[in-house]
Amino acid sequence: MQSLLGLVCILGVCASETADAETSIATLLRGGKTGTTGTTPEPMNFQEAEMIEGLKEDLAAALERFYQSYFGEYGPTRKYLNVVTSASPFVVQAASMAFWAYDLEYFENRWGSDDWAGGWKVVQKYINTTSKSIAPGMDVVALFRRGNECVLSFAGTTGLADWTTNLNIKSLQNLEECGLRNVHEGFFEDFVQFMLGDAWSDEMEPEILSKCGGRLSVTGHSQGGTLAEIFATCINRVDNVTLPDLWRWGQLVHSGRMVSTRVTVTGLYGVASPGCTVDYQLENALPGGIFPGVRFFNMDSESFDPVPWITVVLNFQHAKYQTIQLPNPFKGQDLVKHEGWTYDARWQPLTSAVFGKSISLDHHLGPEYLRRILAFTREVSVTIVAGQNFSQECLLGGMNPYIEVQVGEEEHYFTAKVNAGLLDAAYWNESFVLTTYEPGTSIQLSAWNDCTKDFKMGSAVLPSAEFDPQGFAGWLSLDTGAELEILVQIEHSQF
Ligand SMILES: *[C@@H]1O[C@H](CO)[C@@H](O)[C@H](O)[C@H]1NC(C)=O
Ligand SMILES: *[C@@H]1O[C@H](CO)[C@@H](O)[C@H](O)[C@H]1NC(C)=O
Ligand SMILES: *[C@@H]1O[C@H](CO)[C@@H](O)[C@H](O)[C@H]1NC(C)=O
Ligand SMILES: *[C@@H]1O[C@H](CO)[C@@H](O)[C@H](O)[C@H]1NC(C)=O
Repeated sequence: MQSLLGLVCILGVCASETADAETSIATLLRGGKTGTTGTTPEPMNFQEAEMIEGLKEDLAAALERFYQSYFGEYGPTRKYLNVVTSASPFVVQAASMAFWAYDLEYFENRWGSDDWAGGWKVVQKYINTTSKSIAPGMDVVALFRRGNECVLSFAGTTGLADWTTNLNIKSLQNLEECGLRNVHEGFFEDFVQFMLGDAWSDEMEPEILSKCGGRLSVTGHSQGGTLAEIFATCINRVDNVTLPDLWRWGQLVHSGRMVSTRVTVTGLYGVASPGCTVDYQLENALPGGIFPGVRFFNMDSESFDPVPWITVVLNFQHAKYQTIQLPNPFKGQDLVKHEGWTYDARWQPLTSAVFGKSISLDHHLGPEYLRRILAFTREVSVTIVAGQNFSQECLLGGMNPYIEVQVGEEEHYFTAKVNAGLLDAAYWNESFVLTTYEPGTSIQLSAWNDCTKDFKMGSAVLPSAEFDPQGFAGWLSLDTGAELEILVQIEHSQF
């Protein structure tokens, strides 16, 4: 009990101080039965879950405050979203669309009637601004379409207080006719509210049926990802479903009715999502029971996103689909995959896996997810091809020019020194793969000459927007009038 109080306290500090607060949860875990490494991990049992019931409101309030302070400002996520193109792997586009749903207005203003980043356009939206949690907010579901392919994105900001206060094993909901059993009540209600709304029946379902060519992926961040799991399970099992009345705080919000669900989900994507069912596995109605797609969570050798883990502690598991753990690529760590049929895919991050690591609420947010996903799927390289019109100084010592490439504070490269004799031009054709580059970081280039001693012949800065995402090939003028021919290439790979 003592150690569980510690968790709430930790999250309280995170939320009230800064987005950065990180505190060790080693104490918390040492008190629990799953705290020893090397044994088979088991989620906390029902009795233990009941014990922390009384603490959930504090936890909810801390998370909600954190969300409210973060999601008022989308800026930090935009620079990552802006570099997603149609050349990005589909999984990157799907993860990005989980975040676009938070920021529809910005993307509509930025791209206007042009093709959206990656070629996607918002064709339908469901926006409910009615506050139903302790903090103001809204529910957003957006339907994106590119040609005859669609993605439905569930935003996840609000309802957070709902689901954290309702992390209660007694309030599980069933809708057996479409494959849902023992679903967390808060998520279930959000699902039912969306499905009973006019937007689904009058606009989205008909549009998906007629224009999406049978290709519909669903995506979402945080509880948006959990809603995507519930939606995919239910929708794939039946052609129509009879939904119950939806009551909130003693008021009938929507009368139950039968809604049409003739569409099929062909890809399921979730970022940072909590689990949603107890003692029951959500399965795809299609053969094998596994959904094509990926669930991402952030966990590196030092810290982790606590949101996907909180529900594991309370025995909530995920639908069957592949799970990818994103560690810190900037420290050379490799990602970890769990195939859809495995125990790990439904349960990670397990308590044994987070043991000894720090909670980081920053790890739960868009910038950290997208920065890692992009780092794992893109290789950015710069080639110094040639230079000309260097300074005539130091001719007696001869020209031995070389170029310094600098990215951010930590990354530096030098080309070889080329003996250019009496010419003031040089050819290098030397490439460097940038390992710490991320969108927004500029590349600084300096030309040096080694004659009697090294001196700088000029420099130039290539801002991120000039080469990301489209690449760059051409001549750059240095501040002294010399010129450098360079090439920046961005290559994409699948996970
Ligand atoms: C929005 O949410 C409120 C409260 O949950 C509900 O009464 C209302 O019907 C919802 N509106 C739509 C369009 O779903
Ligand atoms: C609902 O779906 C079932 C089976 O998928 C079908 O038999 C039934 O006719 C449908 N009802 C309506 C009203 O579409
Ligand atoms: C720059 O160098 C090129 C190739 O060496 C030469 O043709 C050109 O005249 C030079 N330009 C200036 C302004 O010196
Ligand atoms: C430049 O380098 C690349 C790769 O290292 C090589 O394929 C290419 O042929 C080189 N170009 C010239 C003109 O040497």
